[in-house]
Amino acid sequence: MTSGPIGVFDSGIGGLTVARAIVSALPDVDLVYLGDTARLPYGAKSPLTVTRYASRCVGFLAAAGVEAVVVACNTASALALPALREAFPDLPILGVVSPGARAAVTASRTGRIGVIGTEATVRSHSYREAIHALAPTAEVVELPCPLLVPLAEVGWIDHPVTRLTLETYLAPLVRDHAIDALVLGCTHYPVLEGPIAAVLAALVPDRRIALVDSADAVTRELQALGLSLSLGGRRRFAVTDLPDRFRSMAEAFFGGGGIALEVVDL
Ligand code: DGL
Repeated sequence: MTSGPIGVFDSGIGGLTVARAIVSALPDVDLVYLGDTARLPYGAKSPLTVTRYASRCVGFLAAAGVEAVVVACNTASALALPALREAFPDLPILGVVSPGARAAVTASRTGRIGVIGTEATVRSHSYREAIHALAPTAEVVELPCPLLVPLAEVGWIDHPVTRLTLETYLAPLVRDHAIDALVLGCTHYPVLEGPIAAVLAALVPDRRIALVDSADAVTRELQALGLSLSLGGRRRFAVTDLPDRFRSMAEAFFGGGGIALEVVDL
């Protein structure tokens, strides 16, 4: 039986939040991560363009010998998953929208669920459909938050501009809708989890709103596949454009003595 690393990709640093969950559950597994930083953001682009970009990413990971691919990008999962599976029929390809929807349905007691994501993800209504497939009577409110990806990419976590941006996006969502769970429907958003939680607590101090993301849920889905993944804890990181900003975030997540990072042309 062959074995190989797990492949993970996103448009940028966001998928590192998923890779971190995979590595924390499977510390010995080999991992190849691709950040398509030359083409970021995916979230403002059309389904056709995102599908084209995502296919190149999967092609790169397939050539790297991965056993399976985790599409650690909600936008690509929402827009491109069927096309990717068709183009790479022999490769298990997991998206993050269904696991996120499942986590949301588990987390919500009232069935009133908010979803924030990129414009493309929200326009696709993939989360609404995935949540309704599990909980047909759930009330799902979706909101695009396009400024959050650049804020996460530049690392403005504890920053007044980020706080104000979050307040502006989230105030109408939580005041007009009694949601008790909020899906961080973009893998960049968990980077801003601290400020998101703080802003929600200030906006609706009497209501606890659970923050939900897909990282742990997709990791469990991956484990359930029972793949023969290669072990050794090797990590390979690649980006399609300037490595420096990516490097500092990846090092913050994966540590210590620096990471091996290459720039590739797709
Ligand atoms: N991190 C990605 C997502 O989960 C997309 C960010 C972007 O490129 O717009 O949707």
